[in-house]
Amino acid sequence: MDKSVTFIGAGNMARALINGLLQQGVEANRLSVICRTPQKHSDLRGRGIEIHPPGSPPQGELVVLATKPQQAGEALARLRGTLDGKVLISVAAGLTTRWLAQMSECQSVIRAMPNTPASIRLGMTGLFANESTRQRFGYDAEWLFGSVGEWHWLDNESLMDAVTAVAGSGPAYVFLLAEAMTKAASTLGFDQDTAQQMVTQTIFGAAHLLKHSTQSAQTLRQQVTSPGGTTEAAITVLQDGRFEALLKSALMAAEKRGKVLSEQAESQQGAAAS
Ligand SMILES: NC(=O)c1ccc[n+]([C@@H]2O[C@H](COP(=O)([O-])OP(=O)(O)OC[C@H]3O[C@@H](n4cnc5c(N)ncnc54)[C@H](OP(=O)(O)O)[C@@H]3O)[C@@H](O)[C@H]2O)c1
Repeated sequence: MDKSVTFIGAGNMARALINGLLQQGVEANRLSVICRTPQKHSDLRGRGIEIHPPGSPPQGELVVLATKPQQAGEALARLRGTLDGKVLISVAAGLTTRWLAQMSECQSVIRAMPNTPASIRLGMTGLFANESTRQRFGYDAEWLFGSVGEWHWLDNESLMDAVTAVAGSGPAYVFLLAEAMTKAASTLGFDQDTAQQMVTQTIFGAAHLLKHSTQSAQTLRQQVTSPGGTTEAAITVLQDGRFEALLKSALMAAEKRGKVLSEQAESQQGAAAS
């Protein structure tokens, strides 16, 4: 695979993908960036990646839109007429393939929802495209997101907000769990560094076990939970606090917010661009 990729935007998500691709061995001269303030991102130039201002034609066949959703309309307007024969891959939350195609005038649009563990090649990305784009460029998207983790094609675009709620935002829930467990561990008598080491390695080990075990999360949990034991005492407290119901509400809130942001972003920017 010797495709070149241009990123529109050089923020958190673009950098996560760039870091993952570089770690995977993709040559820096196959990556380039178009962003508003190139001087802010000179570190990327130092790593061999070309940086250009908005309005510059993207290089290569793969163009990854990695601006905030509310910045996408302006960025896409500046790309019009430069995307012939290319595929536009948007990682922007909530923006639909129909709207992206309309704003960019690009025939081939793929919507992707990655997450920041992509920066260490442990990302999870949901993908959606119409049938013809998937046939023509699906392999390129699989290469791009497979370089930085795992991917999954969705048959229905409306599930993209659910991917955002589960996988896109998911790392933040785990980090919140780590923060809360570390604070709780400190109250049990550990200093901050020890508490952090214990919690980080425990989450890391449990995630690895879950990933590599043939057993379900439920079975693995049950194996640690002896009747009348210490884990059961803790889990009873979590269940009394409606842990599962709380998580379900949290994910539903994220999904709902995704839909609202999507409607707002598309209507505001559509109006501004027309
Ligand atoms: N962060 C996550 O965990 C995550 C996960 C999944 C998906 N996403 C999606 O990824 C997208 C980017 O999020 P982020 O956290 O990376 O945002 P960010 O850090 O704010 O980065 C946005 C980037 O867009 C650039 N930009 C803004 N307007 C532009 C324009 N007209 N032309 C070219 N570049 C422009 C900015 O350039 P300057 O730096 O020069 O100002 C900046 O580098 C969002 O749509 C989000 O939904 C994020």
